[in-house]
Amino acid sequence: MPKTIKKVGVLTSGGDSPGMNAAIRSVVRTCAYHNIECIGIYRGYQGMIEGDFKEMGPRSVNNIVNKGGTILKSARSLEFKTPEGRKKAYENLTKAGIDALVVIGGDGTFTGGLLFNTEFNFPVMGIPGTIDNDIFGTSHTLGYDTALNTVVDVIDKIRDTASSHNRLFFVEVMGRDAGHIALNAGIGAGAEEILIPEENLGLDRLLESLQKSKASGKSSSIVVIAEGDKIGKNVFELKDYVEANLPEYDVRVSVLGHMQRGGSPSCFDRVLASRLGVKAVESLIEGKSNYMVGLQNDKVTLTPLEQAIKGKTEIDRELLRVSDIMST
Ligand code: F6P
Repeated sequence: MPKTIKKVGVLTSGGDSPGMNAAIRSVVRTCAYHNIECIGIYRGYQGMIEGDFKEMGPRSVNNIVNKGGTILKSARSLEFKTPEGRKKAYENLTKAGIDALVVIGGDGTFTGGLLFNTEFNFPVMGIPGTIDNDIFGTSHTLGYDTALNTVVDVIDKIRDTASSHNRLFFVEVMGRDAGHIALNAGIGAGAEEILIPEENLGLDRLLESLQKSKASGKSSSIVVIAEGDKIGKNVFELKDYVEANLPEYDVRVSVLGHMQRGGSPSCFDRVLASRLGVKAVESLIEGKSNYMVGLQNDKVTLTPLEQAIKGKTEIDRELLRVSDIMST
């Protein structure tokens, strides 16, 4: 018989992402639905160490389904990386009567959760929340879809000015070591070239492609560059390099930065968050632990946290070909 869960703690940790609030709401309301108490833990694992807790009922998550950011705040806790920090956190959870955790975040969050479970045999469920979409075991992480829409929206605006001035724009997008945002938003926004860490195009190929594009009659162009791209130059050095080699181009750089993490979540992210929150709490009730809830082939699934942390997400290589054809 699984141990009966009476009180669930929920936290958000690492970089925030749109949809985290919708996931908190789902966890809180699923707990209420099953007559389980729910405690919000502020500032991720740091709040666990400091005992920064607040009881949450279904009415404490009113009007947040549409809000970006996270009402529980987020942090990257260095103290939680120490055994002393984790012991303090465990003592606080025990004192508050919390007997299971839902952690919302990326692989750093899951690594902390798994370690905590190993040391204290404490039930943990993960919900993938990061705009980077770099978590194994789910086709979509919370916030990725919203970030794609934000990036496409901004590049559409950049296109207006690029085309008015016959300019070439290098647009740098987030994604840490992954190129999912760059590749998908790049195709969606009609980029001429997309530079991602998973595929080193090389500088020659970039120059060649830009030359070809000028020769084919295009007067302005957009190149989308993932922040983790390994072409060997940062986006500003790349501008200098292209201007030195192709003087016919007038280049501007736009680094989109943290705006990609903000804003109201898309409908997709809200629905995903609601589904994942329900599954996370109900899995804990069933006595499961150390899993990440995710979406695979439009079904909500469980992946062992260890696999979610260690597994690598792949980019869809067919998308690279589609992008090449689209820039003809
Ligand atoms: O992991 C999400 C992310 O936004 C990455 O895309 C980016 O590299 C990083 O976080 C930025 O982190 P910070 O908010 O600490 O600057």
